[in-house]
Parts: sequence; structure tokens; C-alpha cells
Amino acid sequence: MLKLWLAPHGLHVEPAVPADADAITRLHAQGFYRGWAREEFAAYIAGQDTPVYVACDKRRRIAGFAMLRLAADEAELVTIAVDPRWRKKGVGLALMRALFEDLRMTPARRLFLEVAADNAAALRLYGKLGFARVGERRGYYPRPDGAPATALVMARDLG
Ligand SMILES: CC(C)(COP(=O)(O)OP(=O)(O)OC[C@H]1O[C@@H](n2cnc3c(N)ncnc32)[C@H](O)[C@@H]1OP(=O)(O)O)[C@@H](O)C(=O)NCCC(=O)NCCS
Repeated sequence: MLKLWLAPHGLHVEPAVPADADAITRLHAQGFYRGWAREEFAAYIAGQDTPVYVACDKRRRIAGFAMLRLAADEAELVTIAVDPRWRKKGVGLALMRALFEDLRMTPARRLFLEVAADNAAALRLYGKLGFARVGERRGYYPRPDGAPATALVMARDLG
């Protein structure tokens, strides 16, 4: 089955393929203090329970990606990152909307995520999408230049 969701600026969202692993690894490293190895992303892309989505153009230049973990009737947003050049253009929103639609094909009824309490961009994105705070984990995210940051745990029911 072909899965494809339209996104702004001529981009679209679709499931990642193994050849996307390099671009996703680079993008993730730009978005987070601690990067993950290419092999990890390659395994996630290949895995049944960890769907990965990319926002890209027709030549498959990747502007952003998101990854889920599925576990029975719950799902977790493991990570999402948009290329710094593509931020604030609706790419994050388009990725999230695509994965909400895809989650309707799974048994998942609730989507959880963790976000650093000082991540204004992500908090704005998740707030717009109806996520509510359900908990917090102090000292969760290591920071290069100071004390570790608090993680907020957020959740949203899937319709
Ligand atoms: C968080 C992130 C994925 C958002 O992606 P994005 O494509 O820029 O988001 P969108 O353009 O779809 O914006 C969604 C909303 O958030 C707002 N927003 C985006 N960046 C913002 C910022 N830096 N400050 C305040 N609001 C911001 C947008 O204005 C928009 O709201 P609006 O429609 O009311 O204007 C992106 O900033 C990113 O990759 N950050 C680094 C990685 C990261 O922190 N991931 C989340 C980990 S939990």
C-alpha cells in the first residue's frame, strides 16, 4: 500500500526507506545534543514496531523525520526533528498529522512523548496538536553546559 501525505512547500510525508538512514542520522545529530548511530536508525527503519517517517521533496531530499514506537494499545513518539533550514514552515506539524493518520491503522489508542521543559518550539507544536502534560521526570536530559533538563511527559488520545 502506498502511503503518502501532502506537506507544505511542495514537500510530502511518507515512510522512511533504508536509503534514508544517512540523512536521518545527520538530521537527528543537528537537532539533539546526543546523536544516535546510523545502525540504530537503519534497524528502526527495518523494524515493524518502530515506524519512521520522512518529510521530503520529489528528489527525496529530507527536510524532517519522526519516529514512533508501537506497543499494544499505546504508541510513543520516540523522536522528531526538522532541518534547521526548514523549521517554522509547518513541516513538524505535517509530520505529526501524517503519523496520527497512520496510527489509525494500528491498535494504538494513545500517543505519549517526552519533551524537555525548556523546548519552546516542541511545546508549541505539541500544544497545538492537543497533547496534555501527564507527568514529569527531573534531571532527565543531559546538557553540555549545565544541569540536566526536566522532561515533561505528554499524551494525547488517538481518535
Ligand atoms: C520541534 C521541531 C520539530 C518543530 O518543527 P517545525 O517544522 O519548526 O514546526 P512547525 O513549523 O510545524 O511549527 C509548529 C508550531 O510551533 C511553532 N514554533 C516552531 N518553532 C518555534 C520556536 N522556535 N518558538 C516558538 N514557536 C515555534 C510554530 O510557529 C507553529 O505554531 P503556529 O502555527 O501557531 O505558528 C523543530 O523545532 C526541531 O527539529 N527542533 C529540534 C529537535 C527537537 O527539539 N525535537 C523535539 C523533541 S521532543
